[in-house]
Amino acid sequence: MKSVLVCDGVTKRFGGLVALDRVSVEIHEGEILGLIGPNGSGKTTLINVISGVLLPDEGRVIFEGRDITKLKPHERVALGISRTFQGIRVFPYLPVYYNVELPARSVFKDARLARARTTWALTVTRLLGEAGELPVNLTPYKLKMVELARALVTNPRLVLMDEPFAGLSPEEIGEVSEIVRKLNESGIAFIVVEHKLRYLMKLAERVVVLNEGKKIFEGAPDEVVKSEEVARVYLGVV
Ligand SMILES: Nc1ncnc2c1ncn2[C@@H]1O[C@H](COP(=O)(O)OP(=O)(O)OP(=O)(O)O)[C@@H](O)[C@H]1O
Ligand SMILES: [Mg+2]
Repeated sequence: MKSVLVCDGVTKRFGGLVALDRVSVEIHEGEILGLIGPNGSGKTTLINVISGVLLPDEGRVIFEGRDITKLKPHERVALGISRTFQGIRVFPYLPVYYNVELPARSVFKDARLARARTTWALTVTRLLGEAGELPVNLTPYKLKMVELARALVTNPRLVLMDEPFAGLSPEEIGEVSEIVRKLNESGIAFIVVEHKLRYLMKLAERVVVLNEGKKIFEGAPDEVVKSEEVARVYLGVV
């Protein structure tokens, strides 16, 4: 199977704290990979290293066969890596349409193409009805959709989602999962960080488990659920 992204022996330290300890992860073309682990296990740090917000101290990040370890975040976006944030990051007083169009404008020089991508991103995230609204007036679910639309508008091959289900109702989680599944069927790979394991296990094809910066398990959702090591790490959490 062809890999979209490879993290090869990635280490990230914050002072004396080893947030990622020689983590190697591979995501295949068209795959939905779940990334789980207790609080502080390094999930967001790994997303930050892949998206270029943080540079690793050791190891390499390879995207579609190219070493991107030292590239800046916007260069990675242009290559096809997008992300959403654990805490929502949109411009609260800029209408939804322009929030979504901005990243497209920065990637595509052609304004018509940027507008076409914006309309597409608003359509797949079911935001056409809110295009003129200000984010401050939106529900948390709709805000998450604005974030997802901003990630999709640049035509990514890989989307990194940091806790997309947090703060959402079961129905809303179902909607997000359905949208991700449809996008995945069209060929976009996803890495989804989640604490809501019940829902993630239904969405992800494979799951990587981090604990204290180390990869401790990797396998299909049913194997993860059966793993004693994972159960021990999550004791009192699941
Ligand atoms: N910028 C930073 N400076 C110093 N320490 C950091 C920084 N970012 C993360 N850390 C530390 O690195 C470790 C991993 O943090 P990270 O945010 O990756 O965890 P996480 O798995 O995403 O946790 P959560 O499930 O709570 O979001 C934690 O101990 C955290 O305190
Ligand atoms: Mg996190």
